[in-house]
Amino acid sequence: MEEQYFIKGGNPLVGEVEISGAKNSALGILAAAIMADEDVTVRNLPDVSDIRNFLEAIRLIGAQVVYPDPDDPHVVKINGRGIQSLEANNDYIRQIRASYYLIGALLGKYKEAAVALPGGCAIGARPINQHQKGFRALGADVHICNGIIFTKAERLIGKSIYLDVVSVGATINIMLAASMAEGTTIIENAAKEPHVVDVAQMLNQMGADIRGAGTSRIRIYGVRKLHGADHEIIPDQIEAGTFMCAAAATRGDVTVTHVIPQHLESITAKLVDMGAMVEVAETNDALRVWAPDRLVSTTIKTLPHPGFPTDMQSQFAVCLTLAEGTSLVTETIFENRFQYADELTKMGANLTVEGTTAFIQGVKGLTGATVAAMDLRAGAALVIAGLAAEGVTCVEHIKYIQRGYERFEEKIRSLGGDIRRVTVHDREDQKRELLKLQLEVI
Ligand code: UD1
Repeated sequence: MEEQYFIKGGNPLVGEVEISGAKNSALGILAAAIMADEDVTVRNLPDVSDIRNFLEAIRLIGAQVVYPDPDDPHVVKINGRGIQSLEANNDYIRQIRASYYLIGALLGKYKEAAVALPGGCAIGARPINQHQKGFRALGADVHICNGIIFTKAERLIGKSIYLDVVSVGATINIMLAASMAEGTTIIENAAKEPHVVDVAQMLNQMGADIRGAGTSRIRIYGVRKLHGADHEIIPDQIEAGTFMCAAAATRGDVTVTHVIPQHLESITAKLVDMGAMVEVAETNDALRVWAPDRLVSTTIKTLPHPGFPTDMQSQFAVCLTLAEGTSLVTETIFENRFQYADELTKMGANLTVEGTTAFIQGVKGLTGATVAAMDLRAGAALVIAGLAAEGVTCVEHIKYIQRGYERFEEKIRSLGGDIRRVTVHDREDQKRELLKLQLEVI
């Protein structure tokens, strides 16, 4: 039994959609929040399963998690005073990749942590050697045993740390630990993503002294204690980008609101390359995307920020399956991010993957099929494909999509997309649902 999306494609998405808070920012920020023994209020929290799991995980180690308004899941008050266990090893922890932020947060605050190894999407090997290198440089002993990372330090002492690869997770994790270390830590070759800046700003509000976040050199002057704060999470650039792609792929006209257009520059530039129109609102907090003509091919290479984000690769690939000409999409961050290619082929796309590059020959149209979401972003991409395709598409394993998109189907429906979330018990059930929708199409 699982929930699946059933999509009747062909409607251009039209209208306005409000973008939620950034999931990847929120994970770092919630970890930071437990480092204070005072109330930390976090606003604009996305209501997605990764966040709910993370909140459960910190509750289980003793942090207080309170929703000031029980009807509003977007504002939460955290207090880390009651933390009794420095061992975070439970089902919730194992489900989320960013559970590793608890290592940095607990190590920084208590100089000790034991955290179950991260889960998350299977998009590649996803080593955490740079995190470990950072903690060791600060003086911690780090070892892995039975799927748990144990870290402990007599004292954490600031150091200069050069990251061998630009890693968002390692940058944030080292920032967390180093904010309560003695002396100065310098992270060289740091990640520059907007959520790195957001976490640094949150820590600074809590009394940390972090400078240079958003550049490749971050300096962290350790403090003894962090205090309460009130922070609003930045809008989710990937959710915004996903709706921008959905607008382009369905030849619709969508305005994404509550966004920071500067965070969307690489996405906007590519859409414009492909012949879509993009307009920034005068208020600088909304972007309109529309595609009056067929999209044209382009070349994409994923890179760390400010380059083109790997988390937008699959959604763009879907747009390119419908664009005129041949496109090349090269993935340089995660080795396993083309798992959606076979699924798109089932829908009539013409693409082949060789090593780290997908060659996409645009087709005039896609047709509905039953496809499986393999990871969060690829799942969203398949939904876009379904919305743009003729006929009915069923997307299986939508639990991946629910990890990172808040009220996805509701937002799509508000733009005129025909998408339904259905609990399916078995193949027969799925067939019946498909037939029902296919009959509606006829
Ligand atoms: C974060 C995002 C994810 C996004 C990715 C890249 C979160 C919760 N997730 O993932 O959505 O796709 O950034 O923008 O914020 N690497 C190492 N050693 C390490 C760490 C990373 O070799 O210790 C490599 C990875 O295999 C990958 C690259 O560095 O090739 C970038 O990974 P990283 O930025 O760390 O990704 P995550 O933080 O896991």
